[in-house]
Amino acid sequence: LSGMTTEVMGRHVYYYDCLGSTNDQARMLAEQGAPDGSLVVAETQNTGKGRMGRVFFSPEGSGIWMSLILKPDIPPMDASMITLLGAMAVQEMMESFGLESGIKWPNDLVIDHRKTTGILTEMSAGPDVVNYIVIGIGINVNMKEFPEELRETAISMAMASGQTYHRAEIIRRVMQYFETNYRQFLKDGNLAFLKKKYDASLIHLNKEISIHEIRRVWRGVSRGINDIGELIVSVDGEETTVRSGEVSIRGV
Ligand code: BTN
Repeated sequence: LSGMTTEVMGRHVYYYDCLGSTNDQARMLAEQGAPDGSLVVAETQNTGKGRMGRVFFSPEGSGIWMSLILKPDIPPMDASMITLLGAMAVQEMMESFGLESGIKWPNDLVIDHRKTTGILTEMSAGPDVVNYIVIGIGINVNMKEFPEELRETAISMAMASGQTYHRAEIIRRVMQYFETNYRQFLKDGNLAFLKKKYDASLIHLNKEISIHEIRRVWRGVSRGINDIGELIVSVDGEETTVRSGEVSIRGV
């Protein structure tokens, strides 16, 4: 990973052939004092973690399985905004290669309704301060096909474009886009600066979606994000907001 053009993000890289989960390793390294912007990368993960306790398919050689350690001086309440920055950085990277991908709020990236990238953010925090945040990013890059059970729901960048990608260059670009947006976010304390671009990437902007909470499923029309990254949903003409982490949206 030479030639990194960032100042902080990915300047320290911890590289492994095989890990259980880059998120778990990143949390351990963060506890041990790894600096802000450290990046953990593995060629393959035995137990890649997805959301809702699912296993994330992370085969050797064809994807990017990485976790970024951040130590921002922000209240824990603000951490969910960083997840959206992760999705935006990957979207911008793909765009820079001429690939149009869309975001499913808060942080899934899809092409033709199939997932190209999953993001899992984990945080260690006290009541008022963040100790560290780990953003785990799994990008399907060069796979030519997926196992049967994922065929309908997953897609790689290579399958979408017919090209093969240099993974180190992808990591460099994601780090660069992330750093630029992250700096602005730390300066402003919100995502107002990114709202327009983020909304333009949403696959469900102004579409009817269903919102799945633990005990309740409801429907509404998604209107894009507000300044703090919550999704605005209108129900019978009334607007309400949903926070990431509490819900999953379907029907798109
Ligand atoms: C999801 O869509 O369910 C989130 C998937 C997140 C996968 C990435 S791969 C790198 C990092 N390490 C993990 O164990 N998970 C994340």
